[in-house]
Amino acid sequence: MQEIADSLRKKGLIGFVPTMGALHKGHLSLIEKAREENDFVVVSIFVNPLQFGRGEDYDRYQRSYKDDYALCKSCGVDYLFYPDVERLYPKKTKTFVRMPSLENVLCGKKRKGHFRGVLTVVAKLFNIVKPHNAYFGEKDFQQAVMIKNMVYDLNFDIGIKTLPTIREKDGLAISSRNSYLAPIERKKAPIIYRTLKEGKKLIEGGKDPSYVIDKMKKMIEKKGFLIEYIEIVDQETLKKFKKEKSLIAVSVHMGKTRLIDNIKLMG
Ligand code: PAF
Repeated sequence: MQEIADSLRKKGLIGFVPTMGALHKGHLSLIEKAREENDFVVVSIFVNPLQFGRGEDYDRYQRSYKDDYALCKSCGVDYLFYPDVERLYPKKTKTFVRMPSLENVLCGKKRKGHFRGVLTVVAKLFNIVKPHNAYFGEKDFQQAVMIKNMVYDLNFDIGIKTLPTIREKDGLAISSRNSYLAPIERKKAPIIYRTLKEGKKLIEGGKDPSYVIDKMKKMIEKKGFLIEYIEIVDQETLKKFKKEKSLIAVSVHMGKTRLIDNIKLMG
């Protein structure tokens, strides 16, 4: 891949979409944008063990290489980078990328080590694929913010582009983890986005954040979801709510499924 990347870079711009496979409409929007803005598109598929904690869904994470391959082919992806674990981590990794100020907030509070795994693998993938631009979805908002910070702090010469969350017709954010939901859970899941929209309306209408969070919790809990967090944070620092450029971020559990979503606030 590094040799291919070197030769592609002599001919034009490389747009990169890193994924863990189980490709869906969200990934497709990233691929389309990468197509538009670059001469070559590289997609990687790698279920990264380093970003899964003990008891998380590494083993049952959907692996659907054949379908993913066909999809990439039909979308004009030029190269699919599909390493196995031994190839990407031939020896026990001694070097990690960490971001102490952001890795333990929001999703990082419960998912210890998750963002260390994400940043480390993304840094490796950037050095392998050597892209000019890389594309990430805003559903994983914290991930996108941390990658932008990593690229800035470590001087990766790569443009990081983030694109809006793609949703099902009923508002549920598209995610490969939606496939874990039992039919009855799937039916209830649109409450997450409905609640986010309600929260946005209330905050923008001047209501107090703690009142809004409380109201949102009640709406979601009524449907049987367990709330991991609902927080209103600054879009760049992911810390305390400011009037301008904040977002409401939510993580909930339904049975064994963990779903996240967010909505930006006007400001
Ligand atoms: O968002 C994902 O699919 C993963 O976290 C990423 C960025 C491909 C790193 O493994």
